[in-house]
Amino acid sequence: MDKSKVFIAKNAGQEVVKYISKYCDCGMWDKNSGIPRKKLLEAIQNADGLIIPGDIKVDEELLSKAPKLKVVCNTAVGYDNFDLKAMKERNVVGTNTPNILNDSVADLVFTLILSTARRAVELDRYVRNNKWHVGDEKNLFGIDVHHRTIGIIGLGRIGEAIAKRAKFGFDMEVLYYNRHRKIEAEEKLGIKYAGFETLIKKSDFIVLMTPFTKETYRLVDYREFEMMKDTAIFINASRGQTVNEHALIGALKNGQILGAGLDVYEHEPIKKDNPLLELNNVVLLPHIGSATEKTRSDMIMMAAENAIKVLNGEEAPNVVPELKL
Ligand code: GLV
Repeated sequence: MDKSKVFIAKNAGQEVVKYISKYCDCGMWDKNSGIPRKKLLEAIQNADGLIIPGDIKVDEELLSKAPKLKVVCNTAVGYDNFDLKAMKERNVVGTNTPNILNDSVADLVFTLILSTARRAVELDRYVRNNKWHVGDEKNLFGIDVHHRTIGIIGLGRIGEAIAKRAKFGFDMEVLYYNRHRKIEAEEKLGIKYAGFETLIKKSDFIVLMTPFTKETYRLVDYREFEMMKDTAIFINASRGQTVNEHALIGALKNGQILGAGLDVYEHEPIKKDNPLLELNNVVLLPHIGSATEKTRSDMIMMAAENAIKVLNGEEAPNVVPELKL
C-alpha cells in the first residue's frame, strides 16, 4: 500500500520532517515566508494530511483541491480559520495545539500589560531620540499594575494562567467573565466571577482572551469602551475580530481609555494606513502570543503527532470539539 502523504505549509524545521517521514511521505514549504495560496493548493492535491499555521483558511476551496485529505492540523490553539461545516461534510478531521502555549501567551499578555502601564515602548523611543532631560520626571510617570483590578474576558486555560500571574505575582484583584462560571478556578486562584458589564466598568486592565466565534465577533464595541474607566488599559491577545477596531481607535484618541496593548488586529499583517500606528498610547505586537522558540517547536511537534495518529487510524488527542466523531 502507498504511504500516506503529509504536507507542512510552513518552514517547520527538519526534526519534524524526520519524524513524519518515519510514517509518511512528507513535503514542506521550506521558505521563511508564507506559502502563496496558489502554491499551497497545488501542493495538497494528493495530500492525506496537512499541517498549517493558524492563518491559512481551510475552506471549501481548499478542501475541494485536496480530495484525499483526512486531517488538517493547526499549529495554533485558535481554529477560527477552519470552516467547520465544510470539514464535517467531507469527513476531514481538524486538530489544534492546546495547553502547551498557555504560559507563553500569559507571559506575553503581561508583557503588554506592563509595557502599556509603564509606557516602556514610548519611553524607549524617548531615550533613543535624546529627549531625556534632568527634571522631566513627571513626564515619565506611568500607572501601577500591582494591587489594581484586572478583568479577564474568557477564562480558558490561557485566561487561568493570566489570572495566576495577576493574583500571585502582582497581588491584583482578579475578575473574570466566562460563558460558564468556574468554581474550581475561583477557589484555586482566589478570583471572582463578574457580569460582563460589571467587569468592563470596574477593571483597570481589561484583557480579552476569548476565541473568535460568531458570538464573540466585536464583543468589545463602542458601548463597551464608553463604559470603561478613562484610566483603563485594554489588552487584546485573542483575535482582532473580537473588538471593533474603529471603536478602539476612537477611545484611544479621545481619552475614553488610557491605553491599549495589542497582539492581534482585524487585518494581519496590520495595514500601513492603520491609525493605530500613529498613536503613542498603544503597544503593538505582531501576533506573537505563543512565539517563543521552545513553545513554537513544541506546537509543531504536537501538530505532527496529531496528523500521524489520525493517518494511522488512532485517536488523536487534540481533535477540536466540533469535529469529534
Ligand atoms: C495563536 O493565535 C493561536 O491561536 O495559537
